[in-house]
Parts: sequence; C-alpha cells; structure tokens
Amino acid sequence: MEYTIDESISGFERQKQLAQTFSPSTSRFLDEVGDLSGAEALDLGCGIGETTRMLGMRVGNTGSVIGVDFDKALVESAQSLTSEGNISFTQGDVHALEFEDASFDVVYARLLLLHVAEPMAALKEMLRVCRPQGTVIINDGDFATIYSAPDPFGGEGLVKLYSLFRNVRIGTRLWHMFRECGYDQVEFRVDRMLVRDANGKRLQLMTIEAMREAALQSELMTRQEVDALCQVIAAGIQDDSYLIGFPEMYAAWVKR
Ligand SMILES: C[S@@+](CC[C@H](N)C(=O)[O-])C[C@H]1O[C@@H](n2cnc3c(N)ncnc32)[C@H](O)[C@@H]1O
Repeated sequence: MEYTIDESISGFERQKQLAQTFSPSTSRFLDEVGDLSGAEALDLGCGIGETTRMLGMRVGNTGSVIGVDFDKALVESAQSLTSEGNISFTQGDVHALEFEDASFDVVYARLLLLHVAEPMAALKEMLRVCRPQGTVIINDGDFATIYSAPDPFGGEGLVKLYSLFRNVRIGTRLWHMFRECGYDQVEFRVDRMLVRDANGKRLQLMTIEAMREAALQSELMTRQEVDALCQVIAAGIQDDSYLIGFPEMYAAWVKR
C-alpha cells in the first residue's frame, strides 16, 4: 500500500489546501450528477474528510456519509475536524472494503485511484458495495497535463515528479474502466483549473516537499532538481502573472 506523498510533513495542511483548490471543480461535477439528498454515501480515500463533508452537505440531514481511508492518522484528523452527526469515518483499504454488497446509494472517490495498486479491483469493490440504482462516481486527474506559463520549467518539473504516482493518467481511463465492468451508460466530464492565486501555487510547493523523499529515493530526481523546482514555484507565488495549468480533472459516473 505504497503512497508516495508524505502527508505528515505539512501537518495535513497540504490536504486542506488540496481540498480548497479542487472543491469548485468537484462541485461542478457533483451538480451534474444531480440531487443526492437523503442518500447513504461512501467517500473512499477520504483524507482529512473534506470531500466527505462536501458530500454530507449534499445528502443533508436525512442522509449520511462514511469516509474511509487506509491512513489511521488521516482518519483521526478527519474525525477531529467533523462535528456533523451524519458523518463518520473508518480505516479501510479500497481494494477490500468491509461492507456488505449493496450497502450504499452513492459511492464516491476523488484523487484515490491515481494512487492505488489495482484500480480495476478498486472500481469493482466500489460497484459491489453500491445498491442497484445507486451511483458510483469517480473523480480523478490526468497528471501528465500540468503546465506552467509563461515559463514551462515549473510545469515540466511537476509532470516529472508526479510520474511517481501509480496511475498518472487514470482520469482518461475512467470511461473505459466502467465499460469494461459492463456499463454502457457512462457519464463523463472534464474540467481544468488555471491557477494564478498564491494558495493554489502553495499547494504545488507543499506537494513537492511531501514527495521530496520519494523522488530522491527512487532516483527520479536529484536534490538539486527538486530544489530548483521548489525555487521556481516559490518565485511563482510572488508573481501573479505566473500561471499553473492544474491537471485535467475527469469525472465518470454510472447508475449501478
Ligand atoms: C490525494 S488524497 C485525496 C483525499 C481526498 N479524497 C480529496 O480529494 O481531498 C488520497 C487519499 O487516498 C488514501 N489512500 C491511498 N490508497 C488508499 C487505499 N488503497 N485505500 C484507502 N485509502 C487510500 C490516502 O491515504 C490519501 O488520504
């Protein structure tokens, strides 16, 4: 269960910034999925629970959400950040969920399949625990599409670093993965954020720091290369004409 991002380095600040940066895009996708009120939902790879709380708002008081993550510290952090009575968290691995078949109306995962060892096995687990007529939604990226402008160096460095993720282009595969599972009615959307604000750029800087060890250990990048990448992104934070094209984000969903 190797995960190339060391979330503890930033005291989970990286996950908070990730959630804030991606939430407008996620909201656009979830608006298109439709009304989720009253649903019993599952949020896989929930991290500190930002996506779980977003789903909690959508299912409302008559629904409920369980967030699942394999990292115990993240589950504890999610619990401490959440006061809503209809949201709970538990530790688990998406490849082998401890839920009965057909337990949920909505099964969701954002930026999870990107990291898992067996994305198809994970998708099959998501489908297994979803009720007939329920909805399985996957929201994930194509991390080969990041760029920076006007200077491409930062974007190129980020693409290289993120090649450490197990399934870098998973977003582009989602439609076919659902089809391979036997679904011919697959909804599919794409969204891209162009980030100029300092917080979004800080997210990239925090992610580089959280991946520094993995990059060095794998010998993908030298310490000098990682430092140079940090410097150029840090300079970009001070320069509001420096733009980062975030990864294309895809959403695919099916009715079970
Ligand atoms: C990039 S974070 C995304 C967090 C949250 N879904 C979001 O979008 O803000 C990926 C999360 O997936 C979790 N994770 C990775 N592999 C997992 C697995 N096999 N089962 C459950 N969680 C996993 C990590 O611990 C991490 O919290």
